[in-house]
Amino acid sequence: MKFFTIASGLVAAVSAIDIRLRSGGGCTGTYVACVGINPNTCCSNGGTAFIAVGAVAIPSNWRIELRTYQNGGCNTLRGIQGSGGVTNMCISENDGIARLTGGGWNFSSKKRNAGAAACSTTGCTSTVKPDILVLEDETTTFAIAEMEESLLNVLMDYAINGTQAADLPQVYEPYKIET
Ligand SMILES: *[C@@H]1O[C@H](CO)[C@@H](O)[C@H](O)[C@H]1NC(C)=O
Ligand SMILES: *[C@@H]1O[C@H](CO)[C@@H](O)[C@H](O)[C@H]1NC(C)=O
Repeated sequence: MKFFTIASGLVAAVSAIDIRLRSGGGCTGTYVACVGINPNTCCSNGGTAFIAVGAVAIPSNWRIELRTYQNGGCNTLRGIQGSGGVTNMCISENDGIARLTGGGWNFSSKKRNAGAAACSTTGCTSTVKPDILVLEDETTTFAIAEMEESLLNVLMDYAINGTQAADLPQVYEPYKIET
C-alpha cells in the first residue's frame, strides 16, 4: 500500500499537461499541441488564431485552471475555466470565431502556484511553441518544432482547411511521426 502511494505520487509528478490549440469549435478539427508543458507557460504559434483550446492528460488528482489568450501569443487573457477533477477539458469560442492565439494553465491552489511567475493579463513570462500538428483525422501527426516557419504556416493553412494526409505536398512527408 505504501509502495502504491509512492508510485502513484511519482506518476503524478512526471505527468504534465498537454495544451492543444484547435481549429474547430468544441475542441474538434486539426490541432497543434504543446506536449507536457509547465504551469504559467504560454503555448502559442505566435499570431495563428484558433477557435478552441483544450487541455488533456490532466492528472485526475490535480485541480487546474485552463486559460485562453488573444491578440497574439498570450498577450491578453480571454477565458479561464477550472478543471474540477476532469482529465480532459476544452474552452471554445461560442461564436466560432478563431481569435485564440495562446493557451496555458496553472494550479487552482494559490499555494501550489506560489513562486511560479504569473501568466497574467499582460502575458506569460515564457512561451513555448507547439511540438506537433495533428490533422482533423486525429491520427496523422507532424513534428513541427524544427519546421521552418514558412513551411509550417502553409501546413497550418492546409490542416485548418481540412486537407487530408494524402493530399498534402510531399515536402511534409519527412516530418510525419508514426503513431
Ligand atoms: C493563475 O494565473 C492567473 C493569471 O493568469 C492569476 O490571475 C491567478 O491568480 C493564478 N492563480 C492562482 C491560484 O495563483
Ligand atoms: C487549403 O489550403 C491550401 C494551402 O493554403 C491551399 O493550397 C488549398 O487550395 C486549400 N484548399 C481548400 C479546399 O481551401
